[in-house]
Amino acid sequence: MTDPPHFEYRIEPLGASHDRAAFHSGVPELDRYLHHQAGQDARRKVAAPFVMVDDSGSIAGYYTLSAYSIQLSELPDVIARKLPRYPLLPATMLGRLAVGSSWQGHHLGRFLLMDALHRSWRNTSEVASVGVAVEALDESARTFYLHHEFVQLQDHPNKLFLAMAVIERAFKAR
Ligand SMILES: CC(C)(COP(=O)(O)OP(=O)(O)OC[C@H]1O[C@@H](n2cnc3c(N)ncnc32)[C@H](O)[C@@H]1OP(=O)(O)O)[C@@H](O)C(=O)NCCC(=O)NCCS
Repeated sequence: MTDPPHFEYRIEPLGASHDRAAFHSGVPELDRYLHHQAGQDARRKVAAPFVMVDDSGSIAGYYTLSAYSIQLSELPDVIARKLPRYPLLPATMLGRLAVGSSWQGHHLGRFLLMDALHRSWRNTSEVASVGVAVEALDESARTFYLHHEFVQLQDHPNKLFLAMAVIERAFKAR
C-alpha cells in the first residue's frame, strides 16, 4: 500500500450543494446510485457517501461505507485463524467506489480507496471492524481490488476482503 498522492481535491460527506447529476463514471449503475439513491441512503443511515471534489466543486469520485457483518466461514483460513470463532464478525462494507471518466487513470481511484480504508480504520476505535469487504460489480473492479491487496472470500469470486490488521499495519507504519 502506498501513500495517497497530494492532489487539489478534498473528500467530504455528500451534501445538498454537490452537483451529483454531472457525475459519470462509465458504469450506469454507479452513476444512477449517486444521482438518485445516495442522498436517501445517507438520510436513512443505510450508507455514508463521501465525495471527492475538485477546486471548482465538481465531483471527481465517490465511495460509500456501511456497517456489515461477515461469516467466519467466508474468510480465507489464513485470516480466519487469527480471529475468534464467532460465527458472525463485525466488518465494514465499501459499498461503491467510482471515479469520474475524465479523471480516471490519474491515481484518484487509489486516493479514494486509501481514504476509505483510512476512515474505516480510524472508526474502529468507536465501532469495531475486522476488515473491509467489497462486492465487485465486474471483472475490472475485481482486478482493481486484487491489485490493492484485497483477497477473494470463500465461494464468492466477486466478494473481496482486506483484513483490518493489514490496513492498520499499513497506516501505523507511517
Ligand atoms: C476502477 C477505478 C475506481 C480505478 O480508478 P482510477 O483512478 O482509474 O485508477 P488509479 O489511477 O487510481 O489506479 C491506481 C492503480 O490501480 C491500477 N488499476 C486501475 N484500474 C484497475 C483495474 N481495473 N484493474 C487492475 N488494476 C487497476 C492502476 O494501474 C494503478 O496501479 P499502480 O499504482 O500499480 O500504478 C475507476 O476506473 C472507476 O471508477 N471505474 C468505473 C467504476 C468501477 O469499476 N468501480 C469499481 C468499484 S465497484
